[in-house]
Amino acid sequence: MEHTPAGKPNFDWVAPFYDFLAFLVFGHRLRRAQVVFLNQIPTNAHILIVGGGTGWLLQQVLIHCQPNQVVYLEASAQMLARASKRVINHNIAGSVVFRVGDEMSLKPEKSFDVIMTPFVLDLFTEQYLQSGLIPQLQKVLNPSGLWFVTDFVNPRIGWQKLLLWTMIRFFRLTAGIKTVELADWQKLLAESGLQRSKQKGQVSGMVSTEVWYL
Ligand SMILES: C[S@@+](CC[C@H](N)C(=O)[O-])C[C@H]1O[C@@H](n2cnc3c(N)ncnc32)[C@H](O)[C@@H]1O
Repeated sequence: MEHTPAGKPNFDWVAPFYDFLAFLVFGHRLRRAQVVFLNQIPTNAHILIVGGGTGWLLQQVLIHCQPNQVVYLEASAQMLARASKRVINHNIAGSVVFRVGDEMSLKPEKSFDVIMTPFVLDLFTEQYLQSGLIPQLQKVLNPSGLWFVTDFVNPRIGWQKLLLWTMIRFFRLTAGIKTVELADWQKLLAESGLQRSKQKGQVSGMVSTEVWYL
């Protein structure tokens, strides 16, 4: 299992069984959480999906949101290959630019009406979210744009804490994530000047689905 030289997460090794594992632990609940506010996406939007994995969310966006174009930015080539295969196999219409890379490869001159980060913020330390990921994505969000976040939030119940702790250790080992505990991404988004317009707790309160704007 390889980790990237820069110490960034690498989900290539996990890609073949990621969906199965997520289903085993959570059933379809992580998927359902991601589509709660999909009806808030305006038609004809330019959408950036960061870390969409094997492409289930992309499929939903293409089917339900009539986007102008989706840029599908995935750090894992294996995940990306699965996502593009999914679109082809299901014969889904729509304009999608598949790109292997991360937030550092985004150019400020190309901005988006909608940014989606499904279970991505939980991979990073507070420090990196604050100085890297959040400002990079903010730069490419249109002034009237929306940022859809679905992610784990710090649980208060014992078994949920244990589950989260186990997941973080698992992805530290298999995908080389650097964080040791879940960052308070809600606080960091608010501190960076974003405001929350919608929020819904999911998965017995372990997950929050939110919409933020500038
Ligand atoms: C925990 S998985 C979630 C996958 C998918 N969103 C889902 O819920 O099934 C995180 C995904 O984000 C990707 N990823 C991690 N860091 C990234 C980055 N900086 N830019 C783009 N993708 C990233 C990983 O390759 C992986 O596919």
